[in-house]
Amino acid sequence: MDTGVIYCDDNRQRLGHLPANSVDLIYLDPPFFSNRHYEVIWGDEAEVRSFEDRWEGGIYHYIEWMKERIFEMKRVLKPTGSLYLHCDSHASHYLKVMVDDVFGQENFRNEIIWRYRRWTGASRSFLRMHDTILFYAKDADQATFNRQFTPYTEASLARKQSYHTRIKGDDVYVTSINPKGVAENDVWEIQLLNSQSRERLGYPTQKPEALLERIVKASSNPGDIVLDPFAGCGTALVVAHRFNRQWIGIDISPTACNLMRRRIMKVGALEVRLVGMPTTMDDLRALKPFEFQNWIVDRVNGIQSNRKSGDMGIDGWTFFLHEPVQIKQSEGVGRNVIDNFETAVERAGKKRGFVIAFSYTKNSHEETARARRGGMDIQLVTVEDLLERLDEVFVRMGTSATGALPGLEAAPMPQIDSKRRSAEELVKSDEGRA
Ligand SMILES: C[S@@+](CC[C@H](N)C(=O)[O-])C[C@H]1O[C@@H](n2cnc3c(N)ncnc32)[C@H](O)[C@@H]1O
Repeated sequence: MDTGVIYCDDNRQRLGHLPANSVDLIYLDPPFFSNRHYEVIWGDEAEVRSFEDRWEGGIYHYIEWMKERIFEMKRVLKPTGSLYLHCDSHASHYLKVMVDDVFGQENFRNEIIWRYRRWTGASRSFLRMHDTILFYAKDADQATFNRQFTPYTEASLARKQSYHTRIKGDDVYVTSINPKGVAENDVWEIQLLNSQSRERLGYPTQKPEALLERIVKASSNPGDIVLDPFAGCGTALVVAHRFNRQWIGIDISPTACNLMRRRIMKVGALEVRLVGMPTTMDDLRALKPFEFQNWIVDRVNGIQSNRKSGDMGIDGWTFFLHEPVQIKQSEGVGRNVIDNFETAVERAGKKRGFVIAFSYTKNSHEETARARRGGMDIQLVTVEDLLERLDEVFVRMGTSATGALPGLEAAPMPQIDSKRRSAEELVKSDEGRA
């Protein structure tokens, strides 16, 4: 089976193509039923609403949606394999009943509580400070499991030594202290990624590598295959790679797939295959607006815009020269768009900018000719150019003198942008609270 692959696809489809009994460990962190804003990764308020629509059928609709996928996951697991399902308090109890049904209650291993600390607002209930991870084996009698240990703290070692010290006559000896430390239990205290974490990429649902490290080490061995069917920004895959496991990722979002590919290459993977990304004009027309925008910025090795320049009509910047880019997922872009963009480029203190769209009207070409006479170079790039003549676009954008693609590792990782509104802020504004 191919590993080192990221599939950009609905996992329901993709899992159906994977052979039975082929994977050692599955970790999944699906969109939580509660998590209405998970899709506003880089998005706007419209995305908040589109997510809410998605579970219109309520919790049972969500559980059915998950169940079809859990069935497939059980099928692809080896008899020695395990599954870890990450959830929060809104749906974990429904999910547990459903997964018990699919895997068999006898194969339920643990309900792991991932406890963290975070800032919260005032609340009329106890503060929520944990997620739940449901751990199942395909077959409890055969499953791979490597016990994990936490080294003793100095104080607890001293306490233990005194507790276990026996004195028999002149003999003093210490009993039953495991040199590895204390065996891990089912409550895991692991820090959330905070705004200062070096690991943090800005993907709102990103999980800490330390959490995945414990799972990967406990339920797989070097050379084993780890699958994450809701891979997000690829935390499970990066950890699998670091600990010499093979890996497969699936995510429906091209933005996530591009991001995780880059992230895995940064930790030293030599080859990462990306399968199922949009490749035709029709694929690109069908993308959600924020996915389209991210795809374009990624394609030209550009830099995402922060909210402030986004408000000015600048969606991104070229890689080396940092010139403004505006992206339109439309046909027949007209003169007024070019006109407004000229103003934005001027306000950004630049003399050149790029509009990227499916097509332009004759008027807009005339407008760029007029602007050029006034010393402002507005270049009209089509989506077809990006698909068919990317090398020429790179030369036009000054990204490469020869048209050769700059190395992937040269491309900037997305920057955390403090001016961009947080997911919480977007939800608040969607509810009219901000
Ligand atoms: C909670 S995030 C995963 C975060 C990940 N654990 C990390 O650390 O980055 C859920 C991911 O599931 C993806 N997703 C949602 N529905 C999907 C589907 N039907 N098939 C594949 N991926 C899907 C979303 O695009 C999103 O990236």
